[in-house]
Amino acid sequence: MLRRLHAEQPDSFAFTPANLAWAEGQITKYPDGRQASAVIPLLWRAQEQESWLSKPAIESIADMLDMAYIRVLEVASFYFMFQLQPVGTVAHIQICGTTSCMICGAEDLVAICKEKIANKPHEVSADGRFSWEEVECLGSCTNAPMAQIGKDYYEDLTADGFATLLDDLAAGKVPTPGPQNGRYSSEPLSGLTTLQDYESGKAKYNASVQLATDLGDTIKRIQGDEVPLLTPWIGKNGVVAGRAAEAPTPPAPATAKPAAKQAEEAKKAKQAKQAKQATVAKPAAPAVAEAEPEVLKTARNGKPDDLKLLKGVGPKLEQTLNGLGFFHFDQVAGWTEAQVAWVDSRLTFKGRIERDGWIEQARTLAAADET
Ligand code: FES
Repeated sequence: MLRRLHAEQPDSFAFTPANLAWAEGQITKYPDGRQASAVIPLLWRAQEQESWLSKPAIESIADMLDMAYIRVLEVASFYFMFQLQPVGTVAHIQICGTTSCMICGAEDLVAICKEKIANKPHEVSADGRFSWEEVECLGSCTNAPMAQIGKDYYEDLTADGFATLLDDLAAGKVPTPGPQNGRYSSEPLSGLTTLQDYESGKAKYNASVQLATDLGDTIKRIQGDEVPLLTPWIGKNGVVAGRAAEAPTPPAPATAKPAAKQAEEAKKAKQAKQAKQATVAKPAAPAVAEAEPEVLKTARNGKPDDLKLLKGVGPKLEQTLNGLGFFHFDQVAGWTEAQVAWVDSRLTFKGRIERDGWIEQARTLAAADET
């Protein structure tokens, strides 16, 4: 299907204060230079706020993430979870029309949409409250046929049940999502063929927990002196960043050892670890001293180069570069390592000059070639 921006667009877009705070929180989840990874959550939030994605919304998110507008439009137009035109104010219904759903009755659901909403997909109903479309497989094939409404799946639909569901939505009710035929999830319609102990209530726990409990060897494997597994956001001392006061309590040893023996073993382990570290330790890379490049007050002859041709440079970053005194490709092309460090320390997302290869591109562009 052709997906493009709607012919009629609002003048502007702004997140509500609460959504803005949420969006800014999402951006902090990603390391410096990788903030573009937040593009899908932010687009989704904007869509939840406005019910569809307008051009100003796409551009606003691009500015927040320092991305070129076209990059965000590419994402918004690629995924059909994003609506690029106004949809019904109550609900936009996405009917899965792929194989499983199609052979289980998706065509009947589409017929109901045509009858109750509008004859064509993406057409808003006469009262402006509903719209619909047919989409590709939504990954719920075992519960075919199904429809996605907002972020919920309504599965195991029948034509009559779906018609009632639309009537309920029109009446202001909120139908419960999930299977509509009494199934718990995607277990066989004819009943369980495995994990039957669980169904009959004979097994108290799920299979993994039951096996571990039956074997009775869980805590016995832990001696209490293992080095804790570390995750990137937990410091080497095992303390979560920002929670310095809370040092983790080591698990109690399951088998008591004499204190002197424990201390001796710990000492030996520490010495072995130190010896290993001494063998593999690499010298830390020396920090590059910063040096300010030559900057300009304004563009030469009032004609700046289009710095957005450099990979990763959007309108906002171009403004930042201009504000620092860089207007031309030959300026960027001439940066030394120390000058790159100076510029880098003044950008919001560090490391992108080197990672995106600005200097090589700037050399090519300064020579009036294409990157
Ligand atoms: S075929 Fe409909 S969810 Fe997969």
